Amino acid sequence: MPKPKVLATRPLFPAARTILDATCDVEYFPPGENPARQDLLRRVKDKEGLVCLLTDAVNEELLRNAPKLRIACNVAVGFDNIDLPACTKRGVVATNTPGVLDETTADFAWALMMAVARRIPEGEALARSGKWGGWDLDQLVGADVWGKTLGIVGFGRIGRAMARRAGGFQMKVLYHDAARVAEDLEQELHAEFRDFNSLLAESDFVSVHVPLTPETRAMFSAPKFFRMKPTAFLINTSRGPVVDENGLVAALEAGKIAGAALDVYENEPFILPGLKRNNVVLAPHIASASLETRTRMACMAAENMTALFRGQRPPNMLNPEVLRNK
Ligand code: GLV
Repeated sequence: MPKPKVLATRPLFPAARTILDATCDVEYFPPGENPARQDLLRRVKDKEGLVCLLTDAVNEELLRNAPKLRIACNVAVGFDNIDLPACTKRGVVATNTPGVLDETTADFAWALMMAVARRIPEGEALARSGKWGGWDLDQLVGADVWGKTLGIVGFGRIGRAMARRAGGFQMKVLYHDAARVAEDLEQELHAEFRDFNSLLAESDFVSVHVPLTPETRAMFSAPKFFRMKPTAFLINTSRGPVVDENGLVAALEAGKIAGAALDVYENEPFILPGLKRNNVVLAPHIASASLETRTRMACMAAENMTALFRGQRPPNMLNPEVLRNK
C-alpha cells in the first residue's frame, strides 16, 4: 500500500518528522519564509493530509484546491485560521494542539507583564547603550507586580495557569469568562468572578486569554480602555483582533492606561506604528515558543495525522461529527 501523501507547510522538528514519516509520504516546505499562497495551493492539490500553522488559512479556496484532503492538522491551539464549517461540509477533519502549551504561554504572559511593569526593555537598552551613568534613585522606576490585582479575561487552561502563578506574587485574582467556573475551582485558584466592566475597573494588570471568535473580536474596544485604571497595564498573548489596536493607541496616547505588553497583533506581521512606544512591550507572537513546547505541539499534530491514516480517531478533532458515521 502506498503511504498517504501529506503536505507540511514547515520542516517541523525531527521528533515530529519521525512520527509522520513512519505512516505518511510527506512533502515538507523548506525552512524560512511563510509559504507563498500560490505555492501552497499548488502543492496541496494531490494531498490527503495537511500539517499547517496558524499563518496558513485553511479556507474554501484551499479546500476547493485539495479535493483529496481528509485532514488538516494545525500546529497551534488557536484555530481561527481554519474555516471549520467549510472543513466539516467537505468531510475534512481538523485538529489542533490543546493542553501542551498552557504553562509555557502563561510563563510568557507573566514575563511580558513583568517586562512592561518593571521597564525591562528600556533598562536593557540603557545598559547596552554605553550611556548609563550609574545607579540613580528615580531611574526607570516602574510599577510593582506583587500584591496587585490581576484580571484574567478568558479562564480556560491558560487563564487558569496565570491564576496559579499569581499566588507566588501575593496578587488578588479576578477573572471573567462567558460562564463562571465551579466554586471549588474558584477556591483552589483563589479567583473571583467579575463581569467584564468590573474586572476592567478593578484590575492593575489585565491579561487576555480568550480564543478569537465572533464574540471576542474587538472585545477590547476603545471605550473599554477608558474603564481601566490609568495605572493599569494590558497584556495580550491570545489573538490580536481581540483588541482594537487603534483604540489601544488612543488610550495610551491619552494616558488612559499605563502601558501594554503584546505578543499578538490585528494584522500580523504588521505592527501599528502607534504601538511602538516606550510603555508598550512588543513580542513577535512567541508565547508558546520554547523548544520543548513547540516540539510537543508539532508531535501532537503529527499524531493526529497518523491516527487518521491508521484508521483511528485523531485525539484532538475539532469537528468530530465528520467521523461520526464512519
Ligand atoms: C499560538 O498562538 C497557538 O494558538 O498555539
